[in-house]
Amino acid sequence: METPANTSIPSTTKFYSRAEVATHNDSKSTWFIIHNSIYDVTKFLNEHPGGEEVLLEQAGKDGTEPFEDVGHSSDARQMMEPYKVGELVESLLYADVIGNSSGSWSSWLIPVVLGILATVVYRYFIAAR
Ligand code: HEM
Repeated sequence: METPANTSIPSTTKFYSRAEVATHNDSKSTWFIIHNSIYDVTKFLNEHPGGEEVLLEQAGKDGTEPFEDVGHSSDARQMMEPYKVGELVESLLYADVIGNSSGSWSSWLIPVVLGILATVVYRYFIAAR
């Protein structure tokens, strides 16, 4: 999916639904969600210090709670980065709100021009009579 130009998320980011993540639920393709980001850990399964079983249990699901319950170190959190393949689509909902409220000049220019026009019309055509 393409990212709208007015969001603050990089346009190279890919977005997936929870349903799409759910199809990557075995050792051939192992994805899970942690804090709204999506990780493909297929190649990490046999490197995980906590074993591959626990990762496969979360395959296709949101593993945020079990991941946090383990109390993973900051080293572990850095190790995740290269396995990130995208974000959940719902993070776009929030990005849209932020993008529209800050970036677009047309959102204030049109009301301002209309306001000036109304003042001119009132002064010279209505109040002056
Ligand atoms: C890409 C994601 C993940 C990475 C990079 C990762 C990395 C690591 C690392 C480096 C450790 C060693 C201890 C530490 O440094 O904190 C560890 C331990 C462990 N991890 Fe993960 N982990 C990931 C996802 C998960 C998930 C989703 C679970 C789900 C339950 C999990 C369960 C565990 C367990 C049970 C241990 C063993 C803790 C212990 O021996 O005390 N990990 N992980």
